[in-house]
Amino acid sequence: MPKKENKMKVKKTEVKKPVKAVKEKAGKEKDASAERGKRSYNLLRGMHDILPKDEKYWRPMYDSAQGLASHFQFGRLETPVLEEQGLFVRAVGKGTDVVDKEMYAFEDKDGTKVAMRPELTAAAVRAYIMHGMWNMPQPIKLWYWGSMFRHDRPQAGRYRQFHQVGFEIFGQADSAADAELILMSYDFFKDLGLPVEVKINSIGTPTERANYRNELVNYYRSKRSYLCEECRNRLVKNPMRLLDCKEDRCQPVKEEAPQIINWLGADSKNHFMKVLEYLDELGIPYQLDNTLVRGLNYYTHTVFEFYVTDTQTGQQSALGGGGRYDLLVEEMGGRPTPAVGVALGLERTVLALKQFNEKNNREMPKLPTDAFIAQLGDEARRVTMKLVDQLRNTDVKIAFNFFKTSLKNQLELADSLKAPFAVIIGQKEVQDGTVIIRDMESGIQEIVDQKKLVTVLKRKLGKFDDKR
Ligand code: HAM
Repeated sequence: MPKKENKMKVKKTEVKKPVKAVKEKAGKEKDASAERGKRSYNLLRGMHDILPKDEKYWRPMYDSAQGLASHFQFGRLETPVLEEQGLFVRAVGKGTDVVDKEMYAFEDKDGTKVAMRPELTAAAVRAYIMHGMWNMPQPIKLWYWGSMFRHDRPQAGRYRQFHQVGFEIFGQADSAADAELILMSYDFFKDLGLPVEVKINSIGTPTERANYRNELVNYYRSKRSYLCEECRNRLVKNPMRLLDCKEDRCQPVKEEAPQIINWLGADSKNHFMKVLEYLDELGIPYQLDNTLVRGLNYYTHTVFEFYVTDTQTGQQSALGGGGRYDLLVEEMGGRPTPAVGVALGLERTVLALKQFNEKNNREMPKLPTDAFIAQLGDEARRVTMKLVDQLRNTDVKIAFNFFKTSLKNQLELADSLKAPFAVIIGQKEVQDGTVIIRDMESGIQEIVDQKKLVTVLKRKLGKFDDKR
């Protein structure tokens, strides 16, 4: 077995082709497929593929979400993409952009009016009622991870199919539940290395809100001539959304608008103060934002959204949001059940991470490879395949490439993956039932019995104590 290769230099194989050449090639391929009478397909507007190159973002997000769910004891909920259209119309509400403008709604072949879920809280409420979860010890904590659909105008961080991870707590009115969800969301972004802050508000009970809404409408009516077109519509259709307007011309009006906090009763104020006390105690940065009302109609009391702290990153839209919806379960046909939830937008999180990393010269941590298994010759390849399978349930993370035949190429790969060890199997090792373990840093090699490979590797990697 060759001992002479020391640390391998990785060859730069990725040579950037000039854009013109790439375009010409794509053009030729298109011409060729047109000649063959076939067309190639593109994505629908607002849709996107998630490619392996972005796994370094998606995998840590999933690991963090799953870790949080298990630590905070949330059970996984999966619901169908298609639901009865009425479910969302009733829960999210007429007059909201999601229902009025963005829902993928159609009649299926049976003539049933269906919708592709624009969000999952309504479906979680349906599941909670339908499966009699109100009959079980409360609170019921559910989490989900999946695609949502909104026929919105596509732009950076806004897609027509996008993913959310969400957490919902049913059957708990205490402020601690609101705080628990804000803490979990905060931890999610912290795990990814993304600094965020919470914008938070209380929109009270429906009665408090109705009184406030009247005041708001009176105030905005008196300023009607200063408002943008959209706000004049909102004044009639959904006055609370007036506070959401980002148009420059409406900002002076908005700044002078009455504030909902002054319309809250003692109980609502008390609930909100307690949430803030939790956040203070937990050291979670937050900003009180009396214009935060959220775009879905089911909220009561606490509402909140997450934003990247570093505003230089340029991301203005919320990474996630949620709040209480104490009346929704009853409105949807269940027993009176307080509830609170949050959903985090995963595409927006990836975008924010990419921007943040670029600005701060940071990279996502690479998934570590403990050892690269290299093989030489057909027999060795057979043994290697068996070995690769045996290593599957150990905590040794390996890499391999069955299709490279030269040792040099395989060691270059090991080097590029920063694997501390290579395990080499050639003809002689197959016959002797051994393997060579090569330290990639020093180049020092050791012959080890195949049966002892895992034990020796683990010892070398410091994965358990030598004396055991
Ligand atoms: P939402 O604010 O509509 O809330 O959505 C939550 C997050 O999903 C947003 O903050 C954003 O990151 C992401 N998102 C929304 N629309 C798009 C889009 N078109 N493209 C990419 N990302 C998007 C809800 O959906 C509520 N169900 C949250 C909740 C759970 N409230 C209580 N429980």
